[in-house]
Amino acid sequence: MRHEQRSPSDDPLTTLLDQVRRGLRDLDDGEPASYIPELSRVDPALFGLSLCALDGQVYGSGDTTAPFTVQSVSKPFVFALALADRGLEEVLTRVGAEPSGEAFNSIRLEPGTGRPPNPMVNAGAIVTSSLVAGDTPQARFARILEGLGDFAGRSLDVDEAVYASECATGDRNRALAYLMHNAGSLTGDVEEQLGVYFRQCSVLVTCDDLAVMHATLAGGGVNPVTGKRVVAPRHAQHVLAVMATCGMYDASGQWMLQVGMPAKSGVSGAIGVALPGQFGIGVFSPPLEEKGNSVRGIAACHLLSDQFGLHLMRAVDPQRRPLPPRSLHGAPLRSLR
Ligand code: DON
Repeated sequence: MRHEQRSPSDDPLTTLLDQVRRGLRDLDDGEPASYIPELSRVDPALFGLSLCALDGQVYGSGDTTAPFTVQSVSKPFVFALALADRGLEEVLTRVGAEPSGEAFNSIRLEPGTGRPPNPMVNAGAIVTSSLVAGDTPQARFARILEGLGDFAGRSLDVDEAVYASECATGDRNRALAYLMHNAGSLTGDVEEQLGVYFRQCSVLVTCDDLAVMHATLAGGGVNPVTGKRVVAPRHAQHVLAVMATCGMYDASGQWMLQVGMPAKSGVSGAIGVALPGQFGIGVFSPPLEEKGNSVRGIAACHLLSDQFGLHLMRAVDPQRRPLPPRSLHGAPLRSLR
């Protein structure tokens, strides 16, 4: 599909994104995913980096409008829709919220309940897409496609070739789904549930879309470009918490240590990042490291976090503390901003 590279601009944020991207041009480790054959047909040189601020302004550098399939980056957003449709309590009876410390396609389920460990690994995501409202698989997928579009601020389409390729080669997901069905954590027709999950992974997005989608989570569930409330603030908060602990699979701990922002990666080479109350980031570069995360995407997020002090656990300037000092306890609270 044709797309245009974003032309250079001289606003300071775009200049910074250009610098980060240009600094990583020579990093050429990794290979695009090939276990879904259609994904290996991508141009490995594509590289885009976008940021959406909470005022709705989108900044970007490189291939920010090139379409690619969302893959696992769909998982937080479908989890958000399941929370909106069923509430946290019901969702938690079917899928856990603990980091698995294992690969995205891990087969480990909770002993006794058969619950998958969390909604960010494949097993958990197959369950959360089955929990989205809809009487038929078609209705459920229509709700997912519309919901992903609300997060992105535009209507989205499916890459039918990638969908067919996922269906043809998805035996590991099929095995996982049958195990969960046998354990009782996945109900309904297994093949139909898998079809919805494979279609959700095959939705086409761009880097700019990912930035807006993550800015919607960072802003408490309101899309900053369209102004539409997509999910409740508490559900956006739940999603960011699970992304922070589980979003990068067996690299989640190290990611939190070094980058310090809730994030989610996908095997198409996408990474989405949300800094609560600040912005969303989308990165796209197809070559992956051995855990299935984009090599340049990881490097770009490390650089951005280091250079701009974005780590969530960074101690804030005492002058900007949100709570009054101890000596003021008892006095009426006031903002110290
Ligand atoms: O379930 C799968 O195999 C894919 N459709 C999605 C996997 C994925 O993106 C994992 N992410 N790193």
